[in-house]
Amino acid sequence: MKDAAPSTQPETFYLKDYTPFGYVVERVELVFRLSPEATRVLSKIRFAPNPDVSDREFFLHGEKLKLISAQIDGAEVAPNVTDTGLSCEVPDTPFTWEAEVEINPKANTALEGLYMSNGMYCTQCEAEGFRKITYYPDRPDVMSTFNVRIEGDEKVMLSNGNPGESGEGFAEWHDPWPKPAYLFALVAGDLLNHPDRFTTRSGKDVELNIWVRPGDEGKCAFGMEALKKSMTWDEEVYGREYDLDVFNIVAVDDFNMGAMENKGLNIFNSSCVLASPETSTDANFERIEAIIAHEYFHNWTGNRITCRDWFQLCLKEGLTVYRDAQFTADMRSAPVKRIEDVIELRARQFPEDNGPLAHPVRPEAFQEINNFYTATVYEKGAEVIGMLKRLVGDEAYYKALDLYFNRHDGQACTIEDWIKVFEDSTGRDLAQFKNWYSQAGTPRLSVDESFEDGTYTLTFRQKTPPTPGQDHKDPKVIPIAVGLLTPTGDEVLPTTVLEMTEAEQSFSFEGFKTRPIPSILRDFSAPVILTRDSSAKERAFLLAHDTDPFTRWEAGRELAKASRIAMVIDGASPDSNYLEALQSLVRDDHLDPAFRALVLAPPTESEIAQALADQGVTPDPDAIHDAAETFAQTLAQSLSDSLPRLFAATLVDGAYVPDAKGAGLRALNGRILGLLTRIDGGEAATKQFETANNMTVQNSALACLLKAEKGDAQSQAFFEQWQDDRLVMDKWFGLQVATARPERAPAIAQSLTEHPLFTIKNPNRFRAVMGALAMNHAGFHQADGSGYRLLADQLIALDPLNPQTTARMCSAFQTWKRYDAGRQDKIRAELKRIKATEGLSRDTNEMVSRILD
Ligand code: ARG
Ligand code: ZN
Repeated sequence: MKDAAPSTQPETFYLKDYTPFGYVVERVELVFRLSPEATRVLSKIRFAPNPDVSDREFFLHGEKLKLISAQIDGAEVAPNVTDTGLSCEVPDTPFTWEAEVEINPKANTALEGLYMSNGMYCTQCEAEGFRKITYYPDRPDVMSTFNVRIEGDEKVMLSNGNPGESGEGFAEWHDPWPKPAYLFALVAGDLLNHPDRFTTRSGKDVELNIWVRPGDEGKCAFGMEALKKSMTWDEEVYGREYDLDVFNIVAVDDFNMGAMENKGLNIFNSSCVLASPETSTDANFERIEAIIAHEYFHNWTGNRITCRDWFQLCLKEGLTVYRDAQFTADMRSAPVKRIEDVIELRARQFPEDNGPLAHPVRPEAFQEINNFYTATVYEKGAEVIGMLKRLVGDEAYYKALDLYFNRHDGQACTIEDWIKVFEDSTGRDLAQFKNWYSQAGTPRLSVDESFEDGTYTLTFRQKTPPTPGQDHKDPKVIPIAVGLLTPTGDEVLPTTVLEMTEAEQSFSFEGFKTRPIPSILRDFSAPVILTRDSSAKERAFLLAHDTDPFTRWEAGRELAKASRIAMVIDGASPDSNYLEALQSLVRDDHLDPAFRALVLAPPTESEIAQALADQGVTPDPDAIHDAAETFAQTLAQSLSDSLPRLFAATLVDGAYVPDAKGAGLRALNGRILGLLTRIDGGEAATKQFETANNMTVQNSALACLLKAEKGDAQSQAFFEQWQDDRLVMDKWFGLQVATARPERAPAIAQSLTEHPLFTIKNPNRFRAVMGALAMNHAGFHQADGSGYRLLADQLIALDPLNPQTTARMCSAFQTWKRYDAGRQDKIRAELKRIKATEGLSRDTNEMVSRILD
């Protein structure tokens, strides 16, 4: 239970302190009388004492609510009200609680609870937003059915579940599935729908709608197809059907995150659902398809089976990310998806896991739970499930999932319940596997090899460095997928999963005439950092011959990193062997274009900075940037004869289709254009910009021109063409910062924050500029501290309006201890300045304190 804590010392919540709520909720009835600045919420809640709890306290969460009246069984009561909720004397027997509160959606810039976006009412309740709507036990283990009546003159008024009666000025909704309050949603406004239908495999007819603001109705078709594919896929792969008469999706412009899986009424950041060829890139299409799937899949993994408390967040998020990745792999290309996910994991999760914000996949303490919707909970959480599946095998995995759904449907569960399902259905002891959930940090895996009398031996060592609050780490169970190749490129050992459980462990393979060449951590079978002394020659061999697409790509990545590091440290020239390997790969028309594009994608500058720091070298962002530029320029020159041909060969003509095949070609085409622009003075990019018939090529042409500082006219034309399209304008804002020369990046970002179309209140626009600055590695890390100062200024300005987005963006500073003393001093000063801000939110305070620690 929350105690009133002194405002200087925010309260910390602990997993170990869990106790169930003293009451069960049997029924919730809500009436909303909508008004932008004074919405009335009437609640009627049937409570009964929870027989499992002896020490009962009746406390209802509530924040920023004006209590108008409260009754128990019809009699007025005067509860004890604080900033965080209320408590009240209640009977020992079942009773009905009624309350009326007033809230101000228009003043709600935090975008949590009931708020307004472009004149439309909408909600975001996960994790703890429902308490800003009415007094309620706002915790995921309290589940109930909800009946909702919305009164107002909005054209469309939606809530969860199935529609009930509606008429002039009102609409009623009934959700038959018991749910926690975080899955509650309400939307009301002037909306248009893109309708469709779906018949489940047992013959249930479901009405589907995507609701958008007038003007956006032409951008729904792709999302709708993605939804229907997701519904079919979940039936076919997991045997899960949809369970209501309607499924509604709403697009909202002002939204802190990507989307939200409210029961039967998913609410999406418009950037994650609206799509058209003219306005969306291939990457947007792929992401939209994945997020629609993700939110839909939550209907089973999250809604039907939910979390007991917020420490268990990965129970629904890790599993649902895993499921959406499987879906994307099935819809598109499995190897490409895997490589993309590893790139993401390394860019977002590894820095978190190796810095001051490191926390276990299942955290054990938090001040503000919104700060734990992290890459660790989501992406590493998904990796952990992938390992589990690899260890038990596909068949056992689906059997365990069936047991999970059968055993826990309708419950609020824990990671222990999840693991138990696997133990019971497979007979395995998974005690050690649970370390993946409880111990933070990325394991370092090193490997030695030996060859004697025809026996080839791999000896692995694992070590996880200490993380905040966790000095000691136990060995983890690591599934290591390996394959062995002959020097002529034949596979002599097809992919085999080695199960490492000790700190040091050897695995032997017999019967070889010659020493085989190992391909280790195929398909990235575990989220570890593998270090292996390997020659450039061997890596080039794997890049040319490995049968596993991931390790093949990885070999190229390792070569790229080694070359760039040598350039930075020793002033070496770009590695000629690597350049040659790249050239032959790029020219190999038999290879999947998407794969070639991925091989051509250079390691990020931040990744190189981390690699240097890992070797004990203080990274110099400017030197890293210069090396990246030199490398790209050298590659472009060495390929100059082939670039025009390759460019022409990867042009996709005809109507734009956002499928994997076209996207792969366009990705390669974009890479080639990037190189070509370095040698043709921008001629091809200019032409491509002028003739573009879809956003993917228009966007990549503009990016190339801006990067070459030859894109002023095109940028202006782009602005004029798209100024009325919010999502495209986010691209325009972001691209200018992303492509800026480092020394200009902070000033460009600064001037964009003064542009008439910039608004700090819209998270997408804010992230477009500030997120791009944080991602422009050398630009953000300008030695004069101007990047740091600008971000801190903006975060200080945003915090009083939107703590959640502010706190999230603080993570741009999480890698600060990598850098030299001068930069560290400047970052520390900015972090302290943020922390000293009067009235700083709990969200931002927690993040800044952890980063500073
Ligand atoms: N459950 C949502 C999803 O992963 C994320 C919502 C998180 N929102 C928040 N304010 N913490 O799809
Ligand atoms: Zn999710």
